[in-house]
Amino acid sequence: MAVVSKANIVREDLLRVEGVTKIFDGAVKAVDNVSLTVASGEIFALLGGSGCGKSTLLRMLAGFETPTKGRIFLAGEDITDLPPYKRPINMMFQSYALFPHLNVWDNIAFGLRRDGLPNDQIAEQVEKMLGLVQLAKYAKRKPHQLSGGQQQRVALARSLAKRPKLLLLDEPLAALDKKLRETTQLELANIIEEVGVTCVLVTHDQEEAMTMASRIAVMSEGHFLQVGAPDEVYEMPNSRQVADFIGNVNIFDGVIDEDKADHVTVRSADCLHYVGHGISGHSGMNVGVALRPEKILLTKDQPASAYNWCEGEVTEIVYFGAHTTYHLKLASGKVIKAQALNNTRDLSYGLTWGDTAYAYWNERAMVVLTQ
Ligand SMILES: Nc1ncnc2c1ncn2[C@@H]1O[C@H](COP(=O)(O)OP(=O)(O)OP(=O)(O)O)[C@@H](O)[C@H]1O
Ligand SMILES: [Mg+2]
Repeated sequence: MAVVSKANIVREDLLRVEGVTKIFDGAVKAVDNVSLTVASGEIFALLGGSGCGKSTLLRMLAGFETPTKGRIFLAGEDITDLPPYKRPINMMFQSYALFPHLNVWDNIAFGLRRDGLPNDQIAEQVEKMLGLVQLAKYAKRKPHQLSGGQQQRVALARSLAKRPKLLLLDEPLAALDKKLRETTQLELANIIEEVGVTCVLVTHDQEEAMTMASRIAVMSEGHFLQVGAPDEVYEMPNSRQVADFIGNVNIFDGVIDEDKADHVTVRSADCLHYVGHGISGHSGMNVGVALRPEKILLTKDQPASAYNWCEGEVTEIVYFGAHTTYHLKLASGKVIKAQALNNTRDLSYGLTWGDTAYAYWNERAMVVLTQ
């Protein structure tokens, strides 16, 4: 398989994982029969909650853990039994540790010195890395004299200095505050792209995965629930679990009425759904209709259409600055969330607590979940 990058270049696979399983102490199945391929130059994210096996999978790629079953190939070569230091791979750990007694320059040079590279080559490579992460001015500083974001960039420069074929990042930005994390995400992705290194990134932060990665694997209990581009896993989740994990979602439990090639209708407790695409299901089947809050509009007037709206009472209005989230309690007792963009300074809709409001949405706003 090959992946088409943003620039529409077809790239070859660099990493191939075949049926890898890791069982600890004969009992804990941390990774369960995972297969994946990562194209050269790609940033691939492993996304999942705490304890789902992300770090364990990454550590097997690096060689710090041995798979109980399965094989790992890098550029076509079976590396499953190679020790970490023989793999052209570098791993930046969950809690990256810079050497506190070494300055920035020496931190970056550390691995190159250990490999016995001649001094002039070390200097050249360190200067290049310093330029790349824009820290040339800080070369003589010790880690404690840098901000969190700057330390992060030193750690990245150190990981890239040996020009690994594959860079493994375990929660690289966990130590940074929200704002710094957002700018660093883009910076990091740009640097990785510029160097042309292939990267597997572990995160439990879906926004981080979506910002940085070309593809995301959503993990749960050691296995992959879905693998796809960020917009695929967000707009076309293949299960309730994925829909729920990535972003906010309202899920209506219902039964398929009409099952046609170009549409399905679903009856749920609070509304009739007309979904503008076919699914592989059958009438009478129990399904979930997933609807993201930002795809719902609100009005004070009852819609005329037979489908895709419901009535409720406004029970909560949460102001976030850029948007406002309205909670609407439906007749069945179910509460849905609708998100409105605050595109003017007076709050949109003019709704207040206790008001009756109608939520409505487009036939292409929903996803029918059969599992
Ligand atoms: N060396 C080990 N011995 C025994 N069990 C382990 C070991 N390492 C990890 N585990 C178990 O394997 C499972 C997966 O752990 P892992 O560290 O891969 O999770 P994670 O997805 O990285 O979680 P987090 O987001 O919290 O870092 C957990 O249940 C963990 O307790
Ligand atoms: Mg981890």
